[in-house]
Amino acid sequence: MELLLLLIIITPLEILDSGFCFIRSAGSQSMEELLMPEDLVFGLARRMAIIAQLEQGNVKLQNLKISAPIGSPNTDGIHVESSMGITIAGSTIRTGDDCISIGPGSMNMWISKIGCGPGHGISIGSLGNSFNEAGVQNVTVTDSIFSKTQNGVRVKSWAKPSDGYARNLLFQNLIMRNVAYPIIIDQMYCPDNTCPHQSSGVKVSRVMYKNIKGTSATQTAVKFDCSSSNPCTGITLQDIKLTYLNRSFRPTMTYCSNAMGTHIGAVFPKSCF
Ligand SMILES: *[C@@H]1O[C@H](CO)[C@@H](O)[C@H](O)[C@H]1NC(C)=O
Ligand SMILES: *[C@@H]1O[C@H](CO)[C@@H](O)[C@H](O)[C@H]1NC(C)=O
Repeated sequence: MELLLLLIIITPLEILDSGFCFIRSAGSQSMEELLMPEDLVFGLARRMAIIAQLEQGNVKLQNLKISAPIGSPNTDGIHVESSMGITIAGSTIRTGDDCISIGPGSMNMWISKIGCGPGHGISIGSLGNSFNEAGVQNVTVTDSIFSKTQNGVRVKSWAKPSDGYARNLLFQNLIMRNVAYPIIIDQMYCPDNTCPHQSSGVKVSRVMYKNIKGTSATQTAVKFDCSSSNPCTGITLQDIKLTYLNRSFRPTMTYCSNAMGTHIGAVFPKSCF
C-alpha cells in the first residue's frame, strides 16, 4: 500500500530548477497523501520554493525546512492556489516574502505547527486582482509561531473591483514574537497606485481569531482595513493578548475601518467591536 502511494506521489513532483518545486494535479488524478522528504532545504531559493495547484484534496506537505535570504523578493515559501484539502504541517519556513501564501480558489486548508520567520507571515492573498476570481474558504492556521515577521496572519486584497471572497477562516493558538502586524486584514493593496480611489470587491467574512498571544513590533497590533464597498463582517476576536514590544513606549491598539464583528473573553488591545 505504501509503495503504491509513493509511486503516485513522485509523478506530479517536478523539480524545475534548483530549489523550486511545482506540484500539480489536475482533474481526475487523486492522491491520498503527499509526503515530502524530510529536511527539504531550499538554501538558495530565488523565487517561490513550492507552488501547489491540487484540485483534488487530501494532500499533505510536512516536515519541510524552507529558507531563502532575508529580504529576497518573491520568495514565498509555499504558494497554494486553485487547490482543495491541502495540509501543511510541522514545517519551518524562513523567507524574504510570505512563509505561506494562499491564492484564489483555495479551499479546506489546514496549516499547523509552522515556525514562520523571518518573512511576511502567512497570507491569504493577494486576492481580487482579477474581476472574476474564485474565492478562498475554510482555511485554518493553528499552533504556529511567528518570529520577527512583517505580518502574522494576513488577509490581503487589491483595492479594485472583483467578485472574489475570503470566508470561514480560523486563526488560532498562535504565538507572535516581535511581529510588525500580528493580525491584519488589508484590503487597500494597490502598489504603484495602479487602482486609485477604488475599493476592493473582495468580501471578507466569518473570520475567527482565537488565542493569539505575544509581542507586536508596531503599536497597531490588530489592523482591519476593510473595503468601503464590501465591509468585513463576522470577525470574532477571542482571547487575544498582543503587547507592544517596546513596553516603555505605549500600549498596543486596534485599527478598524469598515469592519464588523464581536469579541469574546479577554481581548487586548481592546477590540473595536
Ligand atoms: C474544512 O476543512 C477541513 C480540512 O482543513 C475539513 O476537514 C472540513 O471538513 C472542511 N469543512 C467543510 C465545511 O468543508
Ligand atoms: C522605545 O521607544 C522609545 C520612545 O520612542 C525609544 O526612545 C526607545 O529607544 C525604544 N526602545 C527600544 C528598545 O526600541
